Amino acid sequence: MKHIVTIEDLNNKDIIDILDRAKKLVPIAEGKKTSNSLSGKIVATCFFEPSTRTRLSFETAISRLGGNYIGFADPSATSHIKGETLSDSIRMVSGYADAVVLRHPQEGSARLAADISPVPIINGGDGAGQHPTQTLLDLFTIREEVGKLEGLNVGLLGDLRYGRTVHSLSEALSRFNNKLHFISPENLAIPDRVKDVLGPDCWSESNELEKILPDLDVLYVTRIQKERFPDIEDYLKVADIYRITAELLRDAKPELKVMHPLPRVSEISTDVDETPHAAYFKQAFNGVPVRMALLETLME
Ligand code: CP
Repeated sequence: MKHIVTIEDLNNKDIIDILDRAKKLVPIAEGKKTSNSLSGKIVATCFFEPSTRTRLSFETAISRLGGNYIGFADPSATSHIKGETLSDSIRMVSGYADAVVLRHPQEGSARLAADISPVPIINGGDGAGQHPTQTLLDLFTIREEVGKLEGLNVGLLGDLRYGRTVHSLSEALSRFNNKLHFISPENLAIPDRVKDVLGPDCWSESNELEKILPDLDVLYVTRIQKERFPDIEDYLKVADIYRITAELLRDAKPELKVMHPLPRVSEISTDVDETPHAAYFKQAFNGVPVRMALLETLME
């Protein structure tokens, strides 16, 4: 385990080890205990696309473990704006830091960076590709909130075409023997390249939530990814197609957990926030201990 470009860079044991380590790190993530396990280490956070959770939770994780971070959240304040290529930027930054967290709008950018970097590259989201550290915190949240990681019915709803979080999560959930139910408009269906790596019997596909909702243990909702639509008219046709409300969830199991990588726009009504179903803010916090665990593992 050197670079974390896709979830395939981690086998099931690696994943469980990281989740177990993350669980032990929760008191440090909460600031109740201290640690210096990353003392003397520098991690670069290079964000060529906007982020709130991924960047700030990585930077919190590094700080809580006594490390230092350098980086940027606005590529227009870097030499990218003068025409510097991603390859050249990675060559520089990998000389300044002991690991690089990279978010970039281009699918495959993290792979390109990993191919030239002597220090670990952690994919913080590459276009409509993958978001493997989000998958780790999603798995951690499922295990904590539902009590297990296997044998679950998981609905994945929304923009399954451009939503990179569901690409890496689907693969991981199928590896842990869960049943996946993809719910999306036809033009935002899960790509064949994702389905091809899942077992043939572990998923179903539909554009209706209501029929499958009563069977679900987890409902993973995603935002329609406006920024990835080549034509705004196509976006407007599907922008408000799904809206999860507290009333809709009356047909769900009482123990159903609603997750979302966030940010949300209108796909989960705020009246869900106060129900026992809402797990998405806890999920966002879980990014801190999980990213702490990953960083410690990579730096060992
Ligand atoms: N979940 C997630 O990737 O959020 P950000 O875009 O805010 O980092």
